[in-house]
Amino acid sequence: MNYRIHPLLRFTSCLLPLFIPSALWGVVSQTQTTNFSFNGFGSADARAQITCYQSASFQENNLQLTETGAVQASGRCLYNKPIQLLHSETHNPLSFSTQFIFFIQPSANSGLADGIAFVIAPTLGGVNGSSQGYIGIFSNETNGKSSTHTLAVEFDTYKNPEYEDMDDNHVGIDVNNIVSYAATSAAYRTSSYPTIQNANDGYAVLMRNAAVHVWIDFNASTNQLNISVSRDLGVKPTYALISNSSLNLSELFNNDMYVGFSASTGTLPTVLYYVYAWSFSSNGHLAANVSIVSENTSKGTRNIAIIIGVVLGAVGSVITLLISLYMYRRRKLLKLKYLSQDQWRSALQEGLPQEFTYHELAKATNNFNEKNRLGSGGFGEVFQGTIATSGVSIAVKRISNESKQGLKEFVSEVTTIGRLRHRNLVPLLGWSQEKGLLLVYELMPHGSLDQVLFNHPEQLSWDQRLNILRGVAAALLYLHEEYEQKIIHRDVKASNVMLDAQMNARLGDFGLARLYGHDVVHSTTNVAGTWGYMAPESFFTRKATEQTDVFSFGALILEVVTGRRIGVMIEEISCSMLEWLWTLQRNNNLVEAIDPVLLKEDKDSNDMIKIVLELGILCCFPDPKVRPLTRRIVQILNGETPLPTMPSIASPSSLLSPVAMPLFSESSSSFLAYKTET
Ligand SMILES: *[C@@H]1O[C@H](CO)[C@@H](O)[C@H](O)[C@H]1NC(C)=O
Ligand SMILES: *[C@@H]1O[C@H](CO)[C@@H](O)[C@H](O)[C@H]1NC(C)=O
Ligand SMILES: *[C@@H]1O[C@H](CO)[C@@H](O)[C@H](O)[C@H]1NC(C)=O
Ligand SMILES: *[C@@H]1O[C@H](CO)[C@@H](O)[C@H](O)[C@H]1NC(C)=O
Ligand SMILES: *[C@@H]1O[C@H](CO)[C@@H](O)[C@H](O)[C@H]1NC(C)=O
Ligand SMILES: *[C@@H]1O[C@H](CO)[C@@H](O)[C@H](O)[C@H]1NC(C)=O
Ligand SMILES: *[C@@H]1O[C@H](CO)[C@@H](O)[C@H](O)[C@H]1NC(C)=O
Ligand SMILES: *[C@@H]1O[C@H](CO)[C@@H](O)[C@H](O)[C@H]1NC(C)=O
Repeated sequence: MNYRIHPLLRFTSCLLPLFIPSALWGVVSQTQTTNFSFNGFGSADARAQITCYQSASFQENNLQLTETGAVQASGRCLYNKPIQLLHSETHNPLSFSTQFIFFIQPSANSGLADGIAFVIAPTLGGVNGSSQGYIGIFSNETNGKSSTHTLAVEFDTYKNPEYEDMDDNHVGIDVNNIVSYAATSAAYRTSSYPTIQNANDGYAVLMRNAAVHVWIDFNASTNQLNISVSRDLGVKPTYALISNSSLNLSELFNNDMYVGFSASTGTLPTVLYYVYAWSFSSNGHLAANVSIVSENTSKGTRNIAIIIGVVLGAVGSVITLLISLYMYRRRKLLKLKYLSQDQWRSALQEGLPQEFTYHELAKATNNFNEKNRLGSGGFGEVFQGTIATSGVSIAVKRISNESKQGLKEFVSEVTTIGRLRHRNLVPLLGWSQEKGLLLVYELMPHGSLDQVLFNHPEQLSWDQRLNILRGVAAALLYLHEEYEQKIIHRDVKASNVMLDAQMNARLGDFGLARLYGHDVVHSTTNVAGTWGYMAPESFFTRKATEQTDVFSFGALILEVVTGRRIGVMIEEISCSMLEWLWTLQRNNNLVEAIDPVLLKEDKDSNDMIKIVLELGILCCFPDPKVRPLTRRIVQILNGETPLPTMPSIASPSSLLSPVAMPLFSESSSSFLAYKTET
C-alpha cells in the first residue's frame, strides 16, 4: 500500500466526483432499480418495508393474506415503495424478476380453496369487493377496464366457469381482467414442447397443501414473460411453464407500480394463503434465490423426546424369530416415555401439512375397504383412495392402534417429512387424528420398488434401475447434507422406495427419521431399522449415522443389481448375500451375482452394472469408515467419479456378518474387539 499518486492525478480524482453527476444528469436518465429479498417476514426490517391491507397480516414469519375465519374477504400485502417498470424517456418496459414461495391451505372440510396472485398494481391498498374468484386482484368495478393498469399472475385452485377457468389447478396471466390472457395447468416443465402431452414433457404441480416455489422473469429485450412453478423448493424447472412474448406492458403499466400479493376467500372460513419468502429485482438482475427459513421449523419437535422403536421387516421365519427375541430384550431394557395427547397434537399442528377429517378419508378410501388396501407395514396398513372434492389420488397410512411406539414415529414423521421438499421424497399431504392416526400421501402410481423388483424384474430395465438408485441417493444427500438439519432416514429399504408415474424413486416412510442439528453427536436410546439393511455397528453402538444409512443404501443397491432380497440366505451356499458377494469378488466372478434379466444389455451397461454392484459392496463394508460418503455415492452413480479402490477382504468369515449379529451377545469379545477398532 505504499504507492504514490501523481499530484496532478490526485487533483483530478478529487474533482471528478463533483463533475460526474452533473455531467451525466442531462445525458443519461435515472432508472431506479429495486432489489430486495425476504426469507421470511418476521423481522422488523421486513415488516417496515411491506404493508398488509384489508384481511391480510403478518403472521409469525409469514404473510397471511386472508384472516383466519374470514369469509367473502380479500387481502393484499405490497412492497411500500413504488417500482419503476417503464423507462423514463422511451416508456419501454424494464426487465423485472421475482421469486416467492406460497402455501395454500384449503378448507379442512371440503379441501377447496380459491387462489393467490402476484400483483403489479398502480396504487397501494387493497381492492374492495374482490372476494371469492376475484382473488383480491379486481372487483366488478375494475375488472375488464384498461384504466385498471394491473398485471397479475394468478395461482388458482378453483374452477370458476364464469371466468373461463380451465381447471382447478392453473396458472394464468391476468391483464386488467380476471379472465386470463394466457393460462395453463400448473406443471413442472421438463421439455420445451409447447404443451405437456406426456410424462416426458413435465408433471402436474398440485398447488394446494404444499409449499410452491414460483419464478417470474420478464426480459425487456425479448419482451418475454416467463413463469415457472415447482414443489421442489429451490429447484427451478429447466423450461418455463408459461413463456409469452406478446404482452404490451408499456401500454399496461404506469411509470411507477407497486408489487405484492393478493388472495381472497369465499364462503369457506378455514382457507388460508401464506407467502413464506419473496425476492424481487428490477432492471436487469435476476431476483435472489429464496428459501424457507428454519426459524421455527424445529420448534415442534424440540421438546419432544422421541423414542425410536424397531421396525420389523419380516424376512424368513428364522430371522423373524431372532428379531423377536432381540426386540423382547430391547423392550425390557427400555422405559418408554409417552407423549401426552396435547403434546403431540400441538406438535402436529406445527407441521405444514393439512389436517383432514376422518370422514373425508373414510369416504376417499371406501371406508378403508379391503379392496383399497395397498399393503401393511411395521406401523399399520396403507389404503389408496381419491379425495372426492378434488380428485386427488392419495395413499392413507393407518397407524395401528396397538403400536404405542407408533405415536412418536407418527409425530416425528409428520413434523419431519411435512417440511421436506425434494423430487425424490414422497410428498406428505396431511394427517388426521380423530379416530386413530392417519397419514395422507400423494399416491405413487407404480407402488413400491420391492413389489416390482421381486415380482416383475423384467419390467425394470438397467437404465430404470440406475435412475432409481440415483434418485434414492439424491434423496439421501438431501437429508444428510442439503437440508437445514441433518436427517438420518434409518429405514432405507426397497419397500420404502416408491415409484412415481415416470418410475422415478421417491423415498418414503420417515417413521424412524429423527432430526439432528448438524454437528451434534448422535446417540439414541434404541436401535432401529430393518433386518438385513442394518449396519453391523448399529447393534452395539446404537447410533444411527450417515454411515448406517449408507449401509442400508448399499443393501438396496445389492438387491437392485442382483434381484435378490438382502435378508434371505442364498440357498445354494447357505450364507448371507454379503458373504456370497465377498466370495464371488475374491474369485473375480461378481458377474454371477447380477440379475440375469439385466445381462442381455450392451457392454457399456454391463460395465456400469459391475461398478454399481461394487459400490453396493463397498457401502455394505463392515467398517463404517470404509463406506463412501453420500455425496461420493451420488457422484459415482452419475459417473462423475471413479469407484474408490476396494479394501481387500482377506477372510470374510472373520468379518461380522449382519445376519449372524444377534447370535452374539453384546458383551461378546468379538463385539468389543470390533468396537474398539471403529
Ligand atoms: C374500501 O372499504 C373500506 C372499508 O369499508 C373503506 O374505508 C375504503 O374507503 C374503501 N375503499 C375504496 C377504494 O372504496
Ligand atoms: C357489482 O356487484 C354489485 C353487487 O353484486 C352490483 O350491485 C353492481 O351492479 C355490480 N357492478 C357492476 C359494474 O357490475
Ligand atoms: C401469448 O398469449 C397469447 C394469449 O393466449 C397468445 O395469443 C400468444 O400466442 C402467446 N404468445 C406467445 C409468444 O406464446
Ligand atoms: C439460484 O439457484 C440456482 C439453482 O436452482 C443456481 O443455479 C443459481 O446460481 C442461484 N442463484 C444465485 C444468485 O445464487
Ligand atoms: C423464458 O423461457 C424460455 C423457454 O423456457 C427460455 O428460452 C428463455 O431464456 C426464458 N427467458 C427468461 C427471461 O427467463
Ligand atoms: C404498446 O403500446 C404502446 C401504447 O399503446 C404503443 O405505442 C406501442 O407501439 C405498443 N407496442 C407494441 C410492441 O405493440
Ligand atoms: C434478456 O435477453 C437477452 C437476449 O436474449 C439476454 O442477452 C439477456 O441476458 C436477458 N436478460 C436477462 C435478465 O435474462
Ligand atoms: C440485487 O441482488 C442480487 C442478489 O442479491 C445481487 O446479485 C445484485 O448485485 C443486486 N443488484 C443491485 C443493483 O443491487
